Amino acid sequence: MSAPLTFPPDFVFGVATSAYQVEGGIENDWSAWEREGRLHDPNARCGRACDHWPRFFDDVGLIQRLGATAYRFSIEWARVEPRRGEWNDEAWAGYRARAEALVKAGIRPVVTLHHFTHPSWFHAETPWHEPACLPAWKRYVERCAEVLEGLGAAIITLNEPNVFLMGAYLAGVMPPGLKDGRKLYAAYANMVRAHVIARQAFLERAKGARLELGISQHLQVFAPERRWHPLDQALTRLAEANFNHAFLEALTSGVLAVQMPGLAAGKTRIDGAAKSQDFIGLNYYTRSHLKFVAGAPFVTFRFKDVHARGLTDIGWEYYPEGFGWVLKQMKRYPLPVWVTENGLDDRSGLKRPRFLFDHWHELLLARAQGVNVTHYLHWSLMDNFEWLEAYGPRFGLYRVDFETLERHETPACGYFRRVATSRTLTPPDEPVPSR
Ligand code: FCB
Repeated sequence: MSAPLTFPPDFVFGVATSAYQVEGGIENDWSAWEREGRLHDPNARCGRACDHWPRFFDDVGLIQRLGATAYRFSIEWARVEPRRGEWNDEAWAGYRARAEALVKAGIRPVVTLHHFTHPSWFHAETPWHEPACLPAWKRYVERCAEVLEGLGAAIITLNEPNVFLMGAYLAGVMPPGLKDGRKLYAAYANMVRAHVIARQAFLERAKGARLELGISQHLQVFAPERRWHPLDQALTRLAEANFNHAFLEALTSGVLAVQMPGLAAGKTRIDGAAKSQDFIGLNYYTRSHLKFVAGAPFVTFRFKDVHARGLTDIGWEYYPEGFGWVLKQMKRYPLPVWVTENGLDDRSGLKRPRFLFDHWHELLLARAQGVNVTHYLHWSLMDNFEWLEAYGPRFGLYRVDFETLERHETPACGYFRRVATSRTLTPPDEPVPSR
């Protein structure tokens, strides 16, 4: 089937970042994790990142030059509440001023409240698997709602809770670094409750005005490593259910059902969770192949270059067809779909135009097949700190020189602008490699 090559007039093109990855100068659980030597390179530090906090107002110009009309960024909880119970009012005012600057520039703020990181006190005093996390979170999100009041911002309550929960409570590669299925389920349920609490806080401030709020869910395509093997096949189904869909189902039906044999299980009805999103926020990057292994966590995964296209620079499968597949999966939820992240680690800066074309083509195909995709936010505005890999990967439309902190256009900037402003998908001109 060929797709109509135009985006509708109200389709929103935007770009995304998260605070810790770009702002610089943040002291939180992740900076402590770095000091413990937990990244792939034990000496790597996030440090000043892109220095986006002071440069934000100039960086708004970068967004405008892309023809983008939405910017997804996050509030860093550690910046606004560095010690438990103590607000940093200057930081709160700083976020308000930044959101206002976007609105003034014709760019809608899409604000994430939780993007993997926490204040340094969080895991010791109010961890996600204890009920004490909820009053701490409530206080924080109520203030977020107050500070953003009247700006028409869209809200992402939680970024990829599935990635955070598996990384922090099962694989132990993100703080607090646990491997504990019982705590995993408790944390899972509390994060659903946290979403509901944030929704209530923003609804109260909206005072009847239209609110657009949801989570960003990481959606991955899973496939059995050994196609014929019943256990690999079973793992694929379990991953789809527990990783891709459990959180979204909970925010649809109100029931959180997790069934990870030998690891974590539970079924809980959570008050207020049913129909608690206004859109499905979807982050898509790749496909992974799963293989059963004896002994917890019973699974290994790897990225395979199935179509001989070459893995991406971070080692993930280049698989645009999977984007179409996950978009079509979203038909089971009766809500508009916002792509809140999609991007490529492209260290040459030359491959991203093709990536955009391939993924936008899949998006338009999915739309033609009835998926109501209304937003596409590219990860990322500029190169930034990537969690475990630090500064190796380059996901930015703008290349950042981490010595001088200058931002430079990559060939994808012009291409993004052309498609976002013309709303017509034409293939990119082949970029000329620089010598
Ligand atoms: C996503 C994260 C985002 C970024 C991209 C590459 O899983 O949400 O912060 O690291 O991957």
